[in-house]
Amino acid sequence: MKVFVTGVEGYIGSLLAPLLVQHGHEVVGTDTGYYRDGWLYSDSKTLSCFPKFLNRDLRSITQADLEGFDAVVHLAELSNDPLGANNPAVTHEINHHGSVNLATNAKRAGVARFIYTSSCSVYGLGSGDFLTEDSPVNPQTAYAECKTLVERNVKQLANDRFSPVFLRNATAYGASPRMRFDIVLNNLSGLAWTTKKITMTSDGTPWRPLVHVQDICTAIRCALDAPQGNIHNQTFNVGDNKANYRVREIAEFVAAEFPGCELTMGSSAGDNRSYRVNFDKIHSQLPGFKCEWDAKKGAKELHDIFSRIGMDLTGFEFRAFTRLKQLGHLISTNQIDDHFYWRY
Ligand SMILES: NC(=O)c1ccc[n+]([C@@H]2O[C@H](COP(=O)([O-])OP(=O)(O)OC[C@H]3O[C@@H](n4cnc5c(N)ncnc54)[C@H](O)[C@@H]3O)[C@@H](O)[C@H]2O)c1
Repeated sequence: MKVFVTGVEGYIGSLLAPLLVQHGHEVVGTDTGYYRDGWLYSDSKTLSCFPKFLNRDLRSITQADLEGFDAVVHLAELSNDPLGANNPAVTHEINHHGSVNLATNAKRAGVARFIYTSSCSVYGLGSGDFLTEDSPVNPQTAYAECKTLVERNVKQLANDRFSPVFLRNATAYGASPRMRFDIVLNNLSGLAWTTKKITMTSDGTPWRPLVHVQDICTAIRCALDAPQGNIHNQTFNVGDNKANYRVREIAEFVAAEFPGCELTMGSSAGDNRSYRVNFDKIHSQLPGFKCEWDAKKGAKELHDIFSRIGMDLTGFEFRAFTRLKQLGHLISTNQIDDHFYWRY
């Protein structure tokens, strides 16, 4: 297949594109490069093939850019709750309008399949019951609200020649050269390695489903390969029933992986986002999908990489590995404007 991947220089995209190339797809990737300053490690095995690359903002991708592709995989958005809260207007501009325009242009260009990386954060405040794809959405942030709006708008574009697929990923973890230390397991592992201390302000009771970044890539690959009848206009939660963890458990797994790490828990309920998610549908309806990772194995993977590259506190705290810090830097140094376009 000829596949157009947006956000190819991000945490997920930098692993996904080589994987798709290895699986025989012809890949063109695009990105505007907000986090290009950060590259944690190199690995000739997983990164042996790079896609063709188009250096562009999502908002300037046209129908002509998408002509001749069989599928679009869309990752390029401002990728977490704090980013959305920082600038809700630009979040709507990129994440909502940019994504719907991309899907509209893809449909006009005759692209048959559009894979959208949504998020389990659309469920918002849960009661602790397991949420399925049919549970009501309850977005609590601009980021989650945009995910909900894109799903709703792009669903309406579906017809027998255009099949959108909505992958609601759990919170990711795991190693990627374009690393993110602003997601929970990666952050705690970095703290455990560099400071030997994890100090939780909350009591860690909220539920948080996790999924390894490689398992997200597998879900996308399977959604590209699946018969149309299995995926047409379908929504899938991406993860595993066994990987609904309490935040406290995640901290305990990480502390156990890094010898000498001291773990202290707080007393407040802290973050009010708490949800458990049911992942039966993706396992039964998406041929070939299976999660190969769990939190324990993920913490060990990070431990091995930190040790291999001798990661220090400066590396862990480097701005480009925390999405909000890097965008703050690009704004305060006048590199991007109020709408997050590069000035030069
Ligand atoms: N990582 C997670 O835990 C997780 C969970 C659920 C869903 N997702 C979704 O998956 C997608 C990818 O996530 P990620 O973790 O790789 O994020 P990321 O921030 O690492 O990557 C996003 C990439 O998109 C690019 N981008 C952002 N705005 C752009 C624009 N206007 N034009 C062109 N490129 C632009 C960035 O430069 C970056 O390289 C996002 O849509 C995110 O919301 C991620």
